[in-house]
Amino acid sequence: MTEKSVKSISEIASFCKENGLIYPNSSIYGGLAGFWDYGPVGCEIKNNIKNDWWKTFVHKREDVVGIDGTTITHPSVWKASGHIDCFTDPLIDCKKCNTRIRGDHLIEDTLKIPADNLSLKEITELIKKKNIKCPNCKTGELTNPRNYNLMFSTEVGAIKDDNSTAYLRPETAQVIFADFKLVQKSARMQLPFGIAQMGKAYRNEISPRDFIFRSREFEQMEIEYFVHPDKINDCPNMTNEIKKFKIQIITAQTQEKGDSNHIETTIGDLLKKKIIKSEWHAYWLYQMYKWFLELDMKYENIRLREHMKAELSHYSEGTFDIEYRFPFGWKEIHGMADRGCFDLTQHNKYSTEDLTYFDQESNKKIIPYVAAEPSQGLDRAFLAFIIDAYTKEKDRFVLKLHPKLAPVQVAILPLMKKDGMKEKARDLFNILKEDFTCLFDDKGSIGRRYSRVDEIGGLYSITIDYDTLKDNTVTVRDRDTTEQIRINIDQLENALHNLIKRKNKLTEFGKVMGKG
Ligand code: GAP
Repeated sequence: MTEKSVKSISEIASFCKENGLIYPNSSIYGGLAGFWDYGPVGCEIKNNIKNDWWKTFVHKREDVVGIDGTTITHPSVWKASGHIDCFTDPLIDCKKCNTRIRGDHLIEDTLKIPADNLSLKEITELIKKKNIKCPNCKTGELTNPRNYNLMFSTEVGAIKDDNSTAYLRPETAQVIFADFKLVQKSARMQLPFGIAQMGKAYRNEISPRDFIFRSREFEQMEIEYFVHPDKINDCPNMTNEIKKFKIQIITAQTQEKGDSNHIETTIGDLLKKKIIKSEWHAYWLYQMYKWFLELDMKYENIRLREHMKAELSHYSEGTFDIEYRFPFGWKEIHGMADRGCFDLTQHNKYSTEDLTYFDQESNKKIIPYVAAEPSQGLDRAFLAFIIDAYTKEKDRFVLKLHPKLAPVQVAILPLMKKDGMKEKARDLFNILKEDFTCLFDDKGSIGRRYSRVDEIGGLYSITIDYDTLKDNTVTVRDRDTTEQIRINIDQLENALHNLIKRKNKLTEFGKVMGKG
C-alpha cells in the first residue's frame, strides 16, 4: 500500500471544489478574490473543528468563558488598539499595468528570502539594488512602498460624515478587551482566567493567495488569558509531563543566522533557556500544539517558530507561531503573543471606564497581564487538517480525518434498491441519525459508493444486503483499513459509539470478513 500526499495547493483547491468542501465565492460572476464559501461537506468539517476547539478550551475548563461579540465595533476600539495607526502592509503599484503588490511578498517571491520584518526603506533599497520589476507585466517600474491599512471600513447610520466611519474587526481579540470588565464582573471570574471568542474577521489583504490560506474574510478562534502581572511565572498547571513534552521549533536566533532548520526540544528546555519567557505562555503553547497532535496532525508537519525582534507586532512582548508544512512551505497556522498589559492599558486610557482589576491579595488595583493570546485561524486549521489527511493509496483515495472531524460518521448503503433492502436501510438511517452524523446513499454501485465515502472522509459504511433481511446482520466497513465485519444490527449502536471514540478496533466486533 503506497501512500502519497498532496503536491500543490491547486490540487487541494480542485479536490475541495469537486467534493463540496469549498467553492470560490460568487463564482457565477467570476468570483471575488479572497472570498470563499464552504460547501455541504466543508461546513460539516469546519463546524467539527469549531466544536472541538470550544469543547476543549471552554467547556472542559473552569478558567475560560466565552463571548460572541459583533463584527463592527466603535472606531475608538481600533484607535486605542493601535490598528488605525499600525495595522498596515507595504503596498507597491506597478506604474505600467497598475497591478498592486505586497512589498514583503514581492521580495520573498523574487529573492527567496524572508521579508516579514523589512522596513519600507529596506524594501525600497532591495527593489532598486536588485532591479526588481512588476511580477505581472514583467517590465513595469514600481512605486516606492507605502503603508496600506488592512481594515475594511463602512458607514454606520444614515448620515455620512467623519463620525460615521466604522471598521469591520480585523481580529476577534479587541472585542474581548472591550468587554473585559463586563465579563469579569458578570461571570465572577478571578485571575488567572481566559475569555474566548470565535467568529469572522476581515482584512483587506493586498494579495490574497494560496487558496483559503490568505483570504479577506476568515474566522478566528481566540483566547485572551489574563494573569496577575507579578505571576506570569506562577502557573500551577505546569506539570513535569508538560515540561517533558517534545516539540519542533525554529528559534529567533537560528533565523537571524539565516538558518531555516528547526530542532526538536522540550517545553521545559525552552523555559530553562528563557526562549519562552513565562510559564503561562509555555503552558498555552503546549495546549495548542497538543490540540493539533490529538486531532491526528502528523508530528513532522508542525513546528513552533519564534518571532524575531524586528517582526514583533506593536503590542507583543514575545510571539510564537505554530507553523504547518504546506506544499508552498512552512507557514503560520496559529499565532500566540504575550500581549503584556498593552491592550487593557490602552482601553483604560482611551475609554471612559476604569478597566483595572481589584486584587484582594495585595489590596491594590492592577491592570491584568495577557500572558498568552492563543489565536487560531479556523480556515488555516481547516486547510492544514485536510492536507494532512489527504492520502493517495495504490488503488484508492481517502481523506483520513480524525473521527471528531469527519463530516460523516456513518454511511448507510443498501446493496440494491429492491426486495426491501432500501426500506430496511432507511429504517436503520432513521435510528442512527439520532446519535451519529449519517449519510444515506443508494445511488450507483457499492464500490463507487465506498469510494465516495472514502473521498470525503466518512468513517464507517454500513451495507444492507440479502443476508440482512434473513438474519438482521449488516456489513460494517472501516474507512482507514477497508476491513469489514459482519455484525448484528442490535449491537451496532454500541459498536459505533466505541469505534468512533477509538476505544476498540473494528475487528473486535462481530465476524471478520476481510478487506474491501
Ligand atoms: N489577535 C492576534 C491576531 O489576529 P494574527 O497573527 O494577525 O494575530 C492570527 O492572526 C491567526 O489568524 C493567524 O495565525 C491565521 O491563522 C489567521 N489569519 C490571519 N490573517 C488571515 C488571512 N488573511 N486569511 C486567513 N487566516 C488569517
